[in-house]
Formats: sequence, structure tokens, C-alpha cells
Amino acid sequence: MAEIKKHWYKEMSVYQIWTRSFCDSNGDGIGDLPGVYSKLDYIKSLGVDGIWFSPIFPTPNADYGYDVSDYKNINPEFGTLDDFKMILEGAHERGMRVFMDLVVNHTSDEHEWFKEGAKDVNSPYHDYYFWRKGRKNGKKPPNNWLSVFEGGAWEYNKDIDEYYLHVFAKKQPDLNMDNPKVREEVKSIIRFWLDMGVDGFREDVITFISKDEGLPNGFPLPIATGVEHYKHGPHLEEYLDEFRAVQEEYDCFVVGEGPQTTLKDAVNFCSEGPGKKLDMLISFDHMNADCFAVDWIKTPFNLRKLKKTFDKWQTAMYGRGWNCLYIENHDHARIIDRYGDLNYRVESGKMLATMYTMQCGTPFIYQGQEIGMTNIEINNINDYKDVMTFNNYRLFKNILHYSEEKFLKLSSQVNRENARTPVQWNSEKNAGFTTADKAWFNINPNYTDINVEAAEKDENSLLNYYRKLIKFRKENEVCIYGDFKQHYKFSKDLFVYERNYEGKRMLVVCSFSAKPVHFKAPEGFELSKGKVAVSNYEVTDTSLNNFMTRPYEARAYLFD
Ligand code: NOJ
Repeated sequence: MAEIKKHWYKEMSVYQIWTRSFCDSNGDGIGDLPGVYSKLDYIKSLGVDGIWFSPIFPTPNADYGYDVSDYKNINPEFGTLDDFKMILEGAHERGMRVFMDLVVNHTSDEHEWFKEGAKDVNSPYHDYYFWRKGRKNGKKPPNNWLSVFEGGAWEYNKDIDEYYLHVFAKKQPDLNMDNPKVREEVKSIIRFWLDMGVDGFREDVITFISKDEGLPNGFPLPIATGVEHYKHGPHLEEYLDEFRAVQEEYDCFVVGEGPQTTLKDAVNFCSEGPGKKLDMLISFDHMNADCFAVDWIKTPFNLRKLKKTFDKWQTAMYGRGWNCLYIENHDHARIIDRYGDLNYRVESGKMLATMYTMQCGTPFIYQGQEIGMTNIEINNINDYKDVMTFNNYRLFKNILHYSEEKFLKLSSQVNRENARTPVQWNSEKNAGFTTADKAWFNINPNYTDINVEAAEKDENSLLNYYRKLIKFRKENEVCIYGDFKQHYKFSKDLFVYERNYEGKRMLVVCSFSAKPVHFKAPEGFELSKGKVAVSNYEVTDTSLNNFMTRPYEARAYLFD
């Protein structure tokens, strides 16, 4: 059996905060850091060991913080550096670590570096970005790349008669990581936060930071044409090593986001030993069980597809690297709407929680997930806020001839903005999120039923179930370090797997069906000899080796 190296980052669970929608302390309708501070005890009460902040730096909000205009400060809408330091201290006092989002594939076009470089081709900051002359006497952009968010990937600047590259929005120019000065800037940002006491980073689209030399034309696609020329560029590994060398001077942890990163590369990046580049990688494969390649191309939910990807990642990583376990974040619609069942919101929410947190890896929980927040219906396109929504609106209207109504319907199922509605704290005005007349973004009207206060009062709530799962995982090494072996691989209703570690065994049974499904213990397991450690229904008859599942039933058995 593969040897597993123990480490604190493998034993922790992490809570993700998207500050703008978390908690507003000053009544301006926008979540902020003092708001987070006021909820530190709540976060701690979940049993998590760390907080990852989506970007909280100054930003013009073209991509809500993922367009940074100053890497060493705090977005004034959220507060000050002193507010942040209070959180850092408060989190540390409570035994929680704090992780920042490091967004260095691109900056904001309002960052000083960009403003300086855009003014003058001889400025040292010019070469911080990809500036190029156009083709055909400057009339056409330098190549055929399309951005992820806003049509063409090049924007023309008439003052200097050059185009700059932006793989995401126009206001997110890509940094030229081939310039050693840019890499020095990145290292200085890393040191700045680590020296302050931050415990690590989530690195935004970090696998995109090296572009193919010459920026050749890409294979035509409706969005992100050219992606094959930067999704794992020629110098990626070198640059990751360079950043890692600085990070290793500290006791810190790094999870990198890798859209389209292959499993083979992920294992290579995260493998223990010399040359390790990242502690974990945020992969997207398991988020595609109800869509084709991107969330917006919707397909019916397919459990076998989901199981296959988890199986592949669990098996390949075991004993080599480490998995990042998540089913929600700020980039995806709410999971119960997607892989669960709104008619069984709590039951299926608990089942999904069991299904992923009991696997091998570090679980991440996104704000609101713990109370089972759901998608929102928005009836007017103008109520949306996100650049990606507007881009998709254009594409669906122009290419697929969607009406606004049809688009809004799809959007309520797949849009990432579903995860960005304010956290529902109680059943009072504005869900207790803000005292302002209006929050910055629509609040889901179901807050009167689904909110933290109600969940606190209900012993059987999803919230309290998350607490149980997190506690159980922490107290049982088999759940942290055990291997992963799947059973019932071909079942369209059941996801069943076992974990083994130093003589202890676990068996996890999850039904993805509202209908009863027959479950018989796999060979080698006698359920009567095990203990039901966590389950979303009461289990009374423990003498049988088979049972009919209840809607979305989940059980984790522990065997000594
Ligand atoms: C990935 C982030 O998670 C997403 O929210 C953002 O829009 C893009 N990277 C661009 O930074």
C-alpha cells in the first residue's frame, strides 16, 4: 500500500468566503471584513480549520475582485488592512488558518503597472503585459484568440497603436510572466502576505500563466480560442517551482486552480518530494456531471459520469498528491439544484455532503452551502451583475437565438451568480445580511425558510449535519488518510465506496435516488459488525446486511 505522508493541510477542512455577499456590517448593502469578523465564532463552530478569502484587494469590480488594482491592500468597500489583521488574529486565536487568493495571471487595467505601461512603450511596465502590433497594418488583432468573458482576447489602444492580451475580461490584462521582473513582483506579493501571517494561497487560474512563444493562432471555438496555447504553457512548471521556492520558506499551503488541467499533470504538480509544485489542485472534472465541458451547456445529471471522475482522481492521487474536495464555490450554481433534489433539499444536501467530504482529500465548504442555499430566479437580465452572464447572454441570443425568457430560465439553473446571492442569516429584512434598504445583489426570497438562525435551532438541519461530518472526519484517520475503492461502479443510483487505513475501514453508501434502491453490503463487509458513524436518517435495524434506501439516504459505516 502507498505510504501517506501526514500534514496539517491534509487534516483540515476549509470554509470559503466571498466577502461581498457574506455579511454587511456598515449598512451599505455590501458584505465587508468587519462583517466577517463578527461571524468568526460561527465559522469556527462549523469545525473548520481554515478560511479561504476570494480576493479582497482593491478592484474596480470588473470581475468582483478577480481584477486586482493593488495586491498589497484591502478593497475599501470591504474595510482596511487593520480590519484584515483583526481577522487574521481572530482566526488564529480560534485555531483557524487564513488563505488568500493570489490572482496573478492578470491584473486589473486600473493597476498602476498597466496604466504606466499603456502610456509609453518605453516604460519598464510596458513589458509587464502582452502588447503587440496588429496584423494587416494594425487593423486586425495580433492573433485569433477569443477571451473567456468578452469576445476577442485583444484590446486596441490607439495612443500607442498596440493591442494588449486579455484571456478573461477586457479589464483583466494578462501579465507577461516571461518577464523576470513580473515574477519578482509575484514573489514580493507572496512574501507580503506570508510575512503578515497569512497561511497560504489559492492561486487563481495559475496553470494559465505561461503562454506559447509567438502566441500562435488557436483552434476556433465559441469562447477561449487559443486556450491550447496557455492551458499548460512551456514555462508553467518552471514558474510554479520559482514561486514554490519562496512559499517553502514558510509553513504555508497552496492550492492551485487548474481549469482543463489533466489528471496526469495534476498528479505531477502535487506529488510529494522534490519538484512538488502545489499541495492540491482545484480540478473541474467532477463539476461536469450535468453539463458538457462548461456549466452552461446543460445535460441531464449523470451519476456514473460523476463517479467515474471521482474514482479516477481518488485513485490516481492516493499516495502521490492530495485532492481538493469541493462541490460548490463562487463559480458554480448551487449543488442541490444540480446534483441533488429540491423536493428533498435537506436529505439530498446531506447525502451530497457525505458523498464528497468522506473521500480522500481536503474538503472546502462554500458560504451558504452548509445551510443548503439554492439557486435564485431572476426575471430581469439587468438584475444580474457578472461579466460572464452578459457575455453568455450575447452568445445565447446571437448564436442560439435564445429569447430573454429562455435565457433567464437556463441562467437560473447554471449561472455562477446563483452562488453569489447574500448569505441568509435569519428571516428578518434582507435575510439579516444588511441593514441597508437593498443589498448589492438580489436576496433569494426563500431566506424566510432557509437561513442560519433556523438551521441552528433544528438539531437535524443540514448545518448541524455538516458539523457532524467535519468532526467525524477530524477524529478518524481512516477518513483522512484511508485509500479509496469504489463498489457498485455501474449503478445509476448508488455511490458506494470504502476507505482503509491501518486496519480501520469505512464504508460510505449514498443514494442519488428518491426511490427505494436495494443495497447489499459488498463482499467482505458485515454491516452488523460496523457502527453507523454518520447518516442522514435514523438507522434502527443494524442486524441486516442489506436494506432498501430511503430518499437520498447516506450512511458512513465505521469498522474497527
Ligand atoms: C477563476 C475564478 O475563480 C473566477 O471567479 C474568475 O472569474 C476567473 N478565474 C478569472 O480570474
